[in-house]
Amino acid sequence: MTDLSTAPANAALARVPRHVAIVMDGNGRYARRRHLPRVFGHKAGVDTMVRVVRAAAERGIEFLTVFAFSSENWKRPDEEVAGLMNLVLFTVQNHLADLQREGVRVRVVGDRSNVSDKVCEAIDRAEAQTAHNRRITLTVAFNYGGRWDVVQACRRIAAAGIDPAHIDEATIARHMALSHAPDPDLFIRTGGEMRLSNFLLWQAAYAELYFSERLWPEFDADELDAALREYARRERRFGMVQPEPSELVANA
Ligand code: FPP
Repeated sequence: MTDLSTAPANAALARVPRHVAIVMDGNGRYARRRHLPRVFGHKAGVDTMVRVVRAAAERGIEFLTVFAFSSENWKRPDEEVAGLMNLVLFTVQNHLADLQREGVRVRVVGDRSNVSDKVCEAIDRAEAQTAHNRRITLTVAFNYGGRWDVVQACRRIAAAGIDPAHIDEATIARHMALSHAPDPDLFIRTGGEMRLSNFLLWQAAYAELYFSERLWPEFDADELDAALREYARRERRFGMVQPEPSELVANA
């Protein structure tokens, strides 16, 4: 059974994050620089996503969560929205067998209400076929928003008739879309912007943030390693006070 506690079990394991979350930003600019439609950038982004899952698994990362389509992305031009929906079908058709072979469990979280039956069926197929894989869990946030997630958790808690006096942080965490994963340790955003953009607002409470200048299609294993090195240098305190240097020596 997966240990979902936030704090790492020991200092050695703390060097590699268990869970990395990524805002894959910069696909549009990547396409524009090549005078190509934006959806070309998203397609290149899928290739990067598959390469990064592989690299993450090789480095011992257990959970990788990526932001593929936000609740706000419906406001994009129809052609781009349709292109992103078609990419789900394309990805399942062209990459699922490889992900399966590599021991990747695929989960897709987000609001299914506006998503077509065809896309929902492809998502169900990807989840069912990879359900028993345990090497790494790839969670794709699709039609997802952090605020949507809080709202849907509240609705499910209310529908379950849970006594308000018994609702605590663990109750809420159990009803959030990522209840199958520990909280992210490292939150990466590519594309040079420094925003959370409504991604994993509840879950990323203690995540270390890393902002990369690379556009997502240009992100690679070396840049992942740069983020992991930076993460390993960070001191995670989870709200506790920083120990005095003398205390560190005394406890060594
Ligand atoms: C942000 O870049 C990226 C997105 C809105 C979509 C990211 C999606 C993928 C990488 C592939 C999706 C995967 C599946 C399985 C469907 P942007 O378009 O905002 O880039 P820009 O800031 O350069 O305009």
